[in-house]
Amino acid sequence: MHLVVDKAQLSPNVTRLVIEAPRIAAIRRPGQFVIVHRGPGAERIPLTIADADSLRGTITLVIQAVGKSTEDLVALKVGEAIADVAGPLGRATELITSGHAVCVGGGVGTAVVHPIALGLRDAGVKVTSIIGGRSREWVIFEEELGRAGEVITCTDDGSYGRHGFVTDALKDVIEAGGVDAVYAVGPVPMMRAVAELTRPYGVPTFVSLNAIMLDGTGMCGGCRVHVGGKTQYACVDGPEFDAHAVDFRELADRLGTYREFETRALEVARMRASGRAASNEAPLHAPAGSCLIPALAEAAEKQEAAAAAGETNA
Ligand SMILES: Cc1cc2nc3c(=O)[nH]c(=O)nc-3n(C[C@H](O)[C@H](O)[C@H](O)COP(=O)(O)OP(=O)(O)OC[C@H]3O[C@@H](n4cnc5c(N)ncnc54)[C@H](O)[C@@H]3O)c2cc1C
Ligand code: FES
Repeated sequence: MHLVVDKAQLSPNVTRLVIEAPRIAAIRRPGQFVIVHRGPGAERIPLTIADADSLRGTITLVIQAVGKSTEDLVALKVGEAIADVAGPLGRATELITSGHAVCVGGGVGTAVVHPIALGLRDAGVKVTSIIGGRSREWVIFEEELGRAGEVITCTDDGSYGRHGFVTDALKDVIEAGGVDAVYAVGPVPMMRAVAELTRPYGVPTFVSLNAIMLDGTGMCGGCRVHVGGKTQYACVDGPEFDAHAVDFRELADRLGTYREFETRALEVARMRASGRAASNEAPLHAPAGSCLIPALAEAAEKQEAAAAAGETNA
């Protein structure tokens, strides 16, 4: 069990949880994530290790409440516990070791880019962070990123910092010259816009892909992405990839695969919470003849293909 030892609300739908996970805190590296399972009946979902304190034996998770599992997690109180936390998973970020890096964060991606910015700073790289939010109340991790170097904060409505998108500020920084790498984490449209912006300048650009993950070990195939025309599994080959080679269109399509089920699961959970639904109501109704979890069908197909090709002992 992983006790919640600290909790804070960072923006209207983003919460920071500090939880006990001493073995993960001791070995995690920037860019890595954990798979969290709140308890019996809960989904397993991936969350980036936004920070860690190896002395206290804690890791920090920054969670944007967008659906049932994330709402359940942010409802946890200090003193309550998460049943399972698996990690650290994924490859650590490939950090440049000299020069000037720009870290771009949108929404909860700002917290995800934080360990990368600190890792770059520790490697002796000059770091500029460009972060964005809809308005002032949605800006997070500004102070924390300030420990890595200059921070340029942008808001869509101009209520704080620079008026406009993070890409506007990034263009200015790149045109000033001397940028050796860009690391961007945020919603898919933002990461795609960053990739298109930096491509003509030839600036190496890395994005952290938020593909749908199930097992996090490369077995199920749920997190499949295409990078440079090659199939990659975000959980073991990533989550960070060369932004100029990522098929963002496919990523966006696959992220919508379960939208109907996700919406229904959230609706039922909220109805139960407000006492409007019988507690034994089935949360989801798969159409007759269909698989409730298409990724499991896909995983089975992948396993069969691998077995046929002699690529597995299973
Ligand atoms: C490597 C990685 C790191 C991440 N780090 C963070 C983080 O630090 N903070 C944070 O708030 N979010 C993070 N996410 C996204 C987070 O996992 C999803 O928001 C969460 O799983 C949504 O679950 P839900 O039940 O609340 O919402 P749902 O209603 O189930 O889904 C909402 C949307 O979230 C995405 N999603 C759903 N299930 C999964 C899943 N199993 N894996 C990935 N995406 C899913 C889909 O795009 C979906 O449309 C990360 C994702 C990945 C892949
Ligand atoms: S989550 Fe990556 S292969 Fe299953």
